Amino acid sequence: MTSLKPDQMASNDADARALTARRYEKMRPMATSRRRVAREGLPPGPRWPASLQSIALLRFRHQFVPWAHRRYGDVFTVRVLPQGRPLVLFTRPEHAREIFAGDPEVFHAGKGNAILGPMMGEHSLLLQDSAEHKRARKLLMPAFNGHALREYAALVTDVASAEAESWLPDESFSALERMNRLTLEVILRVVFGVSDEARLTEMRPLVNKVVDVSPAILFGHGIPRLQKFGPWKAAVDNSVELDRLIYAEIRERRAAVDLAERTDVLSRLIRVGGGGLDGPDSDGLTDEELRDQLVTLLLAGHETTATALAWALYELGRSPALLARAQSAALQGDDDHLEAVLKESMRIHPVIPMVVRTLMRPATVGGHHLPAGATVGPSIIIAHARGDNHPSPAEFRPDRFEGGQPATNTWIPFGGGVRRCIGAGFSLMEGVVVLREVLSQFAVESLGADRPKVRNITSVPGKGAMIRVTRHSGTEQNAFRAGT
Ligand code: HEM
Repeated sequence: MTSLKPDQMASNDADARALTARRYEKMRPMATSRRRVAREGLPPGPRWPASLQSIALLRFRHQFVPWAHRRYGDVFTVRVLPQGRPLVLFTRPEHAREIFAGDPEVFHAGKGNAILGPMMGEHSLLLQDSAEHKRARKLLMPAFNGHALREYAALVTDVASAEAESWLPDESFSALERMNRLTLEVILRVVFGVSDEARLTEMRPLVNKVVDVSPAILFGHGIPRLQKFGPWKAAVDNSVELDRLIYAEIRERRAAVDLAERTDVLSRLIRVGGGGLDGPDSDGLTDEELRDQLVTLLLAGHETTATALAWALYELGRSPALLARAQSAALQGDDDHLEAVLKESMRIHPVIPMVVRTLMRPATVGGHHLPAGATVGPSIIIAHARGDNHPSPAEFRPDRFEGGQPATNTWIPFGGGVRRCIGAGFSLMEGVVVLREVLSQFAVESLGADRPKVRNITSVPGKGAMIRVTRHSGTEQNAFRAGT
């Protein structure tokens, strides 16, 4: 291991390896705050051992959370590792509003995401709180504002049309797999821009492996000796390799002659230094800070959107009438309808099950006085499945999002408040472009029923959303274009 320079620049591969090792050591989940949390006054919940409840929440959340809601009511407490810490889940929109509007100095989101620490790093937007979070958010926001999104749309169209072009006229496949491939390509190009093709080729499988880790591996990162064995060792080796490539990309980009004109996220973040966010004397971001934000975007911005798209194709493939309506929309340029399809698919199949905030001081939510150290969060699964929020909630009906929107805080796939997903606009834009490209060329048919399965912190179609695609004839395309 080499000794790193004080400014944390990874000048070579050995430096990169040292930075990765240090991150794993420092960001061990469960290593922080062993303080017990007071139990008095917590809402009711199961009395099983915390280990069982943790497994139920991580592996069987789509059964366990609705069961707990039926059994204990609108607010209930789940006890999770370490030490049976209370996680209080709220299911009503007025409670979600209170949590989203909570003082960011008291309602910390970074603490609740600690399990992602070894992968994402301490500087990750997802893991920071207070002033550091505000600073990082200000740094990243310009890369996702309306202007930037319009710039990315052409890139997404190119990648989506190349993906659709590669499909055979009559082919069956997992929509999740194809959408993952597509969204990975998009996010790599948004994050790194035009880049060394050989390096991107090396990166793709490494990013996929990080996304694919199971909750057991995430928790195992808390136990250092496990890192010498089997899947834990493989996960660390994979991280080292991915970091090596990212640090190499950062090194080259810092020296790029066209840095000033580039619109990719990495170039934007490098430019933020000297005269940027921290004033004229700022040194800019270290390699480690850059790496953490880039990996966060690669991981948070790829499988999430792919999953929403896979479910959208799956749902359309089950209803010839809704499919015909969406195909007309694709050929007539009715993006509002395609966005409604995507939003309804995120409602009925939430990609992320809940949003969490850990209380730094005692606080009251929904009339419950909760102790410092408790974690609180709206359950997205329940918010989206409540009949009083969404009538006939089990029905896939994109028209809920046309000519009006569901009431505030009843549709919360992207969380809310100062932590609302920074990529929400991006993912809707990307999803609409992809649906437009796919549906203007193909009909889809779902091959059998599918149900959500837990993968890392997201929920994906358990069978991969298997579909058959059939290329439209010219006559069919004309009919859809005419809306007949
Ligand atoms: C269907 C697609 C997506 C879903 C369902 C989703 C969902 C979420 C949720 C629930 C949160 C937590 C919000 C909270 O705590 O209140 C979040 C945060 C975040 N998401 Fe997304 N996301 C998606 C796409 C993306 C994309 C495309 C990107 C980036 C390109 C992205 C980057 C992030 C980041 C950086 C955060 C942390 C924000 C912060 O803490 O300030 N996400 N996302």
